[in-house]
Amino acid sequence: MSGIVLGIESSCDETAAAVVRAGREVLSSAVHSQIEEHAVYGGVVPEIAGRSHLRKILPVIDRALDEAAVSIGDLDAVAVTTRPGLIGSLLVGTSAAKGLAWAAGLPLFGVDHIEAHVYAAGMERERPPYPCLALVVSGGHTALYRSLSPLEHERIASTLDDAAGEAFDKVAWLLGLGYPGGPAISALAREGRADAIDFPRYRARDGEPAFSFSGLKTAVLYHLRGQDALAPTPPPEEICDRADVAASFEQAVVDCLVGETLRAAEREGSSCVLVAGGVACNRRLREQMAACAGERGIEAIFPSPEYCTDNAVMIAGLGYELYKAQRVAAWDLDASPDYS
Ligand code: KG4
Ligand code: ZN
Repeated sequence: MSGIVLGIESSCDETAAAVVRAGREVLSSAVHSQIEEHAVYGGVVPEIAGRSHLRKILPVIDRALDEAAVSIGDLDAVAVTTRPGLIGSLLVGTSAAKGLAWAAGLPLFGVDHIEAHVYAAGMERERPPYPCLALVVSGGHTALYRSLSPLEHERIASTLDDAAGEAFDKVAWLLGLGYPGGPAISALAREGRADAIDFPRYRARDGEPAFSFSGLKTAVLYHLRGQDALAPTPPPEEICDRADVAASFEQAVVDCLVGETLRAAEREGSSCVLVAGGVACNRRLREQMAACAGERGIEAIFPSPEYCTDNAVMIAGLGYELYKAQRVAAWDLDASPDYS
């Protein structure tokens, strides 16, 4: 079984399709980003996302097939993200995948987006890194998983409020930086001092691993406004320490992610930590996680940047694992906004 899988992703603001052989050999990866359509609003607008997916899904699938130089007849399976995400967006990919698989007589596989991010982090390794601890840190999710295999994950901690990527996006908005905020904050932070402002780092009282970023976000807001709750947020050009705010905020997020993850890894006895999702692109996070994990004899694994943010290679890859396990979806496969 050669296992050529077409993966389709439309859970948030990227319309993506990819053709992957045997879960690892990437034949093509087409991604249409909607960033420009959402930038003016400072975040993803679900209505706009759903309509944009509808316009782009078929051209993106065609592009992936063309770039891979395969026809539908060469495929062995179709895999699609069915959860979690924006329901109107998920339905576009799910409907396209169902129609295509049914018409071509191919088996269909429903993929969990979070599990696919974890898969992406291990996909480029010679040998699968399981069992391990996985940190998924993106715009919609920040959670730790005990991962036994590509298809077996148990959530052991998650954010109590915002996801880390969401905090990056909101603080970027306060600082007058564009959307998405992560790359913009990261770039500005290079010019600032990470120890300039002592922003708070959340730590659960009971010592259980958990994340929280809303207090940090509020601390940034009050740093910018002064302590007057009714004062307006100053326009970006009047913020004299923007780079220091960006660097100190980024450092606080990274300290929380690294601290909680490595504490959990030591508790679990994990010798390997996978870091996945859009925020895994962050340079400071990659450097600090690798260094601190190394000091504890733990290996930290990150995907290449193009497989950190949303893509369909990870969907086709995990789809291949489902194909091997013969976990074929029924034709009434549905999308859901929730994590399974
Ligand atoms: O995984 P992803 O593409 O989409 C979701 O599933 O949410 O993650 C997008 C998030 C955005 O919040 C973006 O600001 C953040 O990842 N991000 C970053 C960086 N690149 C993207 N955050 C921090 N530093 C970066 N370099
Ligand atoms: Zn994602």
